[in-house]
Amino acid sequence: MTRFSQEILASVIPLQLRGIGKRYGDLTALQDIDLSVQRGEIFGIIGRSGAGKSSLLRLINRLETPSEGQVLINGQDIAALTTTQLRPLRRQVAMIFQHFNLMATRTVAENIELPLRMAGVPPPERLRRVDELLQLVGLVERRDAYPAQLSGGQKQRVGIARALVLEPQILLCDEATSALDPESTQAILQLLRDINRRLGLTIVLITHEMEVIRDLCHRVAVLERGQVVEQGEVWRVFGDPKHEVSRILLAGSEHRDDSARGAEGEVLLDLHYTGARGLEPDLAALSAALPGLRLVQGGVERIQGRALGRLRVAVGNVDLEKLSALADRVERI
Ligand SMILES: Nc1ncnc2c1ncn2[C@@H]1O[C@H](COP(=O)(O)OP(=O)(O)O)[C@@H](O)[C@H]1O
Ligand SMILES: [Mg+2]
Repeated sequence: MTRFSQEILASVIPLQLRGIGKRYGDLTALQDIDLSVQRGEIFGIIGRSGAGKSSLLRLINRLETPSEGQVLINGQDIAALTTTQLRPLRRQVAMIFQHFNLMATRTVAENIELPLRMAGVPPPERLRRVDELLQLVGLVERRDAYPAQLSGGQKQRVGIARALVLEPQILLCDEATSALDPESTQAILQLLRDINRRLGLTIVLITHEMEVIRDLCHRVAVLERGQVVEQGEVWRVFGDPKHEVSRILLAGSEHRDDSARGAEGEVLLDLHYTGARGLEPDLAALSAALPGLRLVQGGVERIQGRALGRLRVAVGNVDLEKLSALADRVERI
């Protein structure tokens, strides 16, 4: 590729969905979807089962065609492409799966090599690329092993290596860590983060694990009944989810027992920190504003550098006015 065409590519948005609709017979799986994913971004998609998440990914790699709207990859509408024209697209958009989809009768190295073979890459170049990828995913020692001899985490490393071997610009992940134990999940997330940073790869991922979104993604979209009901930077959506479904999905990631009550005559308050003003709980200032303050429950975490959380406090009496500078939102329970 010439430098000039690389520059043109770099200047356009890698992935844009415009007015996407998808019907399967009478069933409307997706409706009015508008999304843009920026170069080098990790974009998460969450939603309840059946919301349309997998259908959306299948439109991006043209396993399905939309009933309405456009899927633009680097500015080009892929719905209009013929089979021959699709070939370069297949190289630009790669995918990894929950159950890895490896070939059981082929070794690790052979699984990684397969897309290169199919693309007609000559053997010496294939060998070089496979070695590079084995290195990248940390499987050099396991190159001659068969999938059955690998752990789940190692299998997904092979899946990632195979997906990256043709140097795609976009990587799609459909529940890529859902079949893994927590330790392997962390290792795979670290690998994806590395790849994103080192190769500038754009990643679109679906997950039902909110901590994957929290730890890895820059932005997130919430899908419900085939529509995007909320989208934004991860800290914004986690810190202050606007839609009921976002709240339901995110509530699962909190360890919350709302049975805590204050003593007789006390008032309970929830102090919310949403990241919006960059506030952190200032305990000295809170205690000065609320004499007799006791912390009943709560905590703060950081997402993308923002302090997010909720403190449930018990106080004798309260002047809510005084608290407006000390928390993003105050709720009387
Ligand atoms: N190939 C298909 N044919 C018919 N219906 C489908 C097909 N794929 C998905 N659906 C339906 O479309 C809806 C969205 O499915 P899907 O995209 O798999 O959701 P999710 O991945 O969010 O669980 C569901 O009601 C599902 O049954
Ligand atoms: Mg799905």
